[in-house]
Amino acid sequence: MIIIRKTLLAFTGLFICFFLIAHLGANFILLLPASKAHPLYNAYSSFLRNNFLVMIIAYVNYACIISHVILSVLITVKNRRSKGFTNQKNATLENSSWTSQNMGLLGTILLAFIVIHMANFWFKVKFSGEDHDLYLMVISLFSSPGYAAFYFLAMLPLGLHLAHGVESGFRSIGLYHNKFLRWIAKAGVAYAWFTAIGFAIIPLIIYFRQETL
Ligand code: HEM
Repeated sequence: MIIIRKTLLAFTGLFICFFLIAHLGANFILLLPASKAHPLYNAYSSFLRNNFLVMIIAYVNYACIISHVILSVLITVKNRRSKGFTNQKNATLENSSWTSQNMGLLGTILLAFIVIHMANFWFKVKFSGEDHDLYLMVISLFSSPGYAAFYFLAMLPLGLHLAHGVESGFRSIGLYHNKFLRWIAKAGVAYAWFTAIGFAIIPLIIYFRQETL
């Protein structure tokens, strides 16, 4: 059972990684000059809402996020209850990093970030029943120093979680070959910091650009 859960945790995590890189690419539009970014970002927003395939991918992504959280809680509870927990923990502490020991803590911080993030945009767009100018919503949120700092700082736990998670995910789906894993570990770390730094610079640039709305 634990193997099945770990495999599902890995697949859901890897799907979220795929979503994140696409999401980052779309959000880079925000860094273009306002005259180009404004219509393009809103066109992206209406494409998200009107394309059937994209809507399916979005629902798969929500399911992956929810399942990833539930599976990680179930695996943690099971590990704590299992008799060999103390020995196992001592063994892993010797040869693993702070990040790998604290994936649950990092994941919890990210879950809090995602809930606040969804409340900032997704919830308003989906449930208010009005048409929204998504570009102006993002620019106005990031012109607040508190939100810009919050989004910037939240990308540190994201980078740490992904840097360990990608390698760990590939291990869990059965890729044990050492040479391949070493390559995956490096590619995972590069992906993690590219994604985290990419997201972190967006609120920073928008805040300091001080665009007049
Ligand atoms: C600069 C950083 C970011 C910006 C400006 C941003 C912007 C947005 C916007 C505007 C939406 C609403 C899209 C819509 O419903 O039309 C959205 C949705 C979403 N964002 Fe972000 N985002 C950022 C970072 C992140 C990060 C780091 C994560 C995950 C760790 C994330 C996860 C999500 C999810 C899961 C959704 C819902 C997607 C959907 O409905 O398909 N975002 N984001």
